[in-house]
Amino acid sequence: MPSHYAIVPAAGSGTRFGSEVPKQYLDLAGRPLIHHSLAALCACERIKRVWVVLSPGDEWWGSFDWTSLGAKLHAVFCGGATRGESVANGLAAAASVLADDDWVMVHDAARPCLSQDMLATLCDELADDPVGGILAVPVADTLKRADAQQRVAATEPRDGLWQAQTPQMFRYGVLRKALAANSGVSDEAGAIEAAGLKPRLVGADASNLKVTFPADLRLAELILEGRNR
Ligand code: C5P
Repeated sequence: MPSHYAIVPAAGSGTRFGSEVPKQYLDLAGRPLIHHSLAALCACERIKRVWVVLSPGDEWWGSFDWTSLGAKLHAVFCGGATRGESVANGLAAAASVLADDDWVMVHDAARPCLSQDMLATLCDELADDPVGGILAVPVADTLKRADAQQRVAATEPRDGLWQAQTPQMFRYGVLRKALAANSGVSDEAGAIEAAGLKPRLVGADASNLKVTFPADLRLAELILEGRNR
């Protein structure tokens, strides 16, 4: 039976958030944002080990206590210039532990509301899948294309469109090869697609949001509060 592992790229600077503190270390319900994302993965029984990929110059990681996350968690300071490079470097750092047919989940540091139910659904739905896949939600809103003056230039059809989330789960060997050939992609599925394969879309929900702008942080807090009530 193939095992499950997780890689969390966390070497970004979060410039869109516009804060002095890197986004992944912002306080969310009394803990750094990334602590929640890592805790969800570490709490999942099926996942054997979790690598968090940090920037070589990360000065924040060491100032927090991660011991409550247990022995599954391994920090590696080998982040790259792009998300794809950070993931590829993390996969290389994990090479002595993983076999080519093991499953690797790649999860954004900035998605702190990942639930155990969604993790279980992802693993169950992809268990016999030849390619692997991603959590995603069908686009619900009408989509507008903007012009340079921020006026509507066009209304785009949304039929068949999904928003990609993470975790994105693929076989270690396939993902490593795909990212080596295409590290400029904005998610792992993009590299798999460029390799000519079709990742499966596993239905998730909007609670697994990515914290990108300041208002997202409050939303994430409300979701976590609601879950703990
Ligand atoms: O910027 P964005 O929110 O799309 O980043 C998604 C994830 O990729 C974040 O967890 C971020 O820290 C990570 N990342 C990385 N290395 C980079 C850029 C982004 O690990 N060079």
